[in-house]
Amino acid sequence: MSDYDRDFDVKSYMKLSYGDPHVSSVNFKKELRDFVLENVHEFYAERATLRSNSARILEFGGGPIIVYLISAVPYASSIVFSDYSSASREAIGKWINDSPDAHDWHPYFDYVIKTFENDESAETPLNRAKEMKSKISSIIHCDVAMENPIGKGCEKSFDVISVSFCFESACKSVEDVKVTLKKLATLLRPGGWIRINGVLGGSYYMVNNKRFFNVTQTEDSVRNALAKAGFASIDVTTHVGDRPQASNADYIGMYHASAQLTDKV
Ligand SMILES: C[S@@+](CC[C@H](N)C(=O)[O-])C[C@H]1O[C@@H](n2cnc3c(N)ncnc32)[C@H](O)[C@@H]1O
Repeated sequence: MSDYDRDFDVKSYMKLSYGDPHVSSVNFKKELRDFVLENVHEFYAERATLRSNSARILEFGGGPIIVYLISAVPYASSIVFSDYSSASREAIGKWINDSPDAHDWHPYFDYVIKTFENDESAETPLNRAKEMKSKISSIIHCDVAMENPIGKGCEKSFDVISVSFCFESACKSVEDVKVTLKKLATLLRPGGWIRINGVLGGSYYMVNNKRFFNVTQTEDSVRNALAKAGFASIDVTTHVGDRPQASNADYIGMYHASAQLTDKV
């Protein structure tokens, strides 16, 4: 099996999945990307009932990608960004430090803010990016296999955990997704929220000729895992269709899920 620290080519991944947001890329059709981005936007705007600048957010298994935090920034007081691979963490650090070889995420800030917030101002995307950079308080290693997936001493530290296309890559089975959710639940304050986007079906995807394993998930497996891990108010939305080129991945659609940790925990 390919290993993320050894084999994951960050630049190829960004190109194959996160090219121009206005068009489809090889591994990610525009319709599906819009489905995810719109659900992320709605989660922060409506479901999480968060106050401005108040939420301590954990991005778990974020890879080299910041696009699912664009809608979160106005609600965040701080963001801890985590990933398993050192190359991904380095890519995020380069972007925060305005390194000349950092990825240019401006097209995504522009696209998300214009499309989902109906804000045409040229300044808002620039300001949002600055605000995100200042709110990312740390970039840390994470591993679902560890008893404490982001290290010790973080229990009940977060109001929101955000997970994008991580469980299907990091977990070995549907049962392992449930175990991972239970561990992540300990990092949330009671009443805190998790939002997850991931692929439905699917057993692999390709990056730069390397094959990466995917746990095959269904809407039911996601719901069951969240319920068994102690979450309530579970909402799962799916978009089936708009598959990638068959040789690059075999997923059949995507889901967005949100759920709240019960106050009793
Ligand atoms: C398909 S990428 C998703 C990246 C990004 N979150 C996105 O939405 O595009 C899968 C991510 O899972 C991470 N990952 C792999 N093994 C992991 C593990 N054992 N624990 C936590 N994350 C892991 C990888 O480093 C990688 O960033």
